[in-house]
Amino acid sequence: AQLDGGARRLAGKHILVTAGPTHEPIDPVRYIANRSSGRQGFAIAGALARLGARVTLISGPVTLATPAGVTRIDVETARQMADAVDAALPADAAVMVAAVGDWHAEATAQKRKKGETPPVIELFENPDILALLARGPHRPGLVVGFAAETEQVIEHATAKRTRKGADWIVANDVSGDVMGGEANTVHLVTADGVEHWERLPKAEVARRLAERIADAL
Ligand code: CTP
Ligand code: CA
Repeated sequence: AQLDGGARRLAGKHILVTAGPTHEPIDPVRYIANRSSGRQGFAIAGALARLGARVTLISGPVTLATPAGVTRIDVETARQMADAVDAALPADAAVMVAAVGDWHAEATAQKRKKGETPPVIELFENPDILALLARGPHRPGLVVGFAAETEQVIEHATAKRTRKGADWIVANDVSGDVMGGEANTVHLVTADGVEHWERLPKAEVARRLAERIADAL
C-alpha cells in the first residue's frame, strides 16, 4: 500500500459497510438464509481501508478473512445487524452491501419435530436497515445501497434509491452466478442518472466504488 497522503484519500473518514447474508432461525438448529457469500462487501471494506478510511464492517455469517485494517463485527440476524449499525454510528458514509433477510420467523425454543403435518412457518418483515439509516437522525453524508435484481434491474434499482432515501444504488444483476461468484455486473444509479459498468472482478468493482466514494466525501 502507498503511504503518501495522496493515496490515503479517505484518511480521517469513518465508513460503515454491511456484508454477507443473514441467518434467520426457525428453531435452535435451523435457519432461513440466502446465497450471499459476502465477497463483494468484504472487497469494498478492504478497498476503503486501503484508501485510509476507518472501516467498520458488519458482517452476517460468512467464511471470509477480515480485510487488513478493517474492524469487523459479526452478527447473525437482520435485527442484530440493525442494532450493530446503530451502535457503529456516526459515520461519514455507509455502504450497505449485505443481502439482509427480508423476513424472520418466530424461532421455537426447542427443535421442531416431524409430526403428522409439516409446520407452516409464519414470516414477519425485518427492519429495513438501509431505509432506517437513510431517513434517520444520524444519517451519514453519503448512503450507498445495493439492489439485487434478476429482472428490470435499472427500473427496480432506481425505484429503490428514492424509496429508501439512498444517495446511490449499486444495481446488481444477480440473474447469473453473481451470488457466490468472482465477478459482478453493476450499474451505478445516482441522482444524475445511471452509469453502466462492464462485467468486472468483484475486487475491481470494489476499487472503483471506493474511488468514487473518495471523490464524493
Ligand atoms: N436492505 C437493508 N435491510 C433490509 C433489506 C435490504 O438494509 N431489511 C438493504 C440492502 O443491504 C441493500 C438494499 O437494502 O443495500 C436493497 O436490498 P434488496 O434486497 O435489493 O431490496 P429490498 O428493499 O429488500 O427489496 P426486494 O428484496 O423485494 O427486491
Ligand atoms: Ca430484499
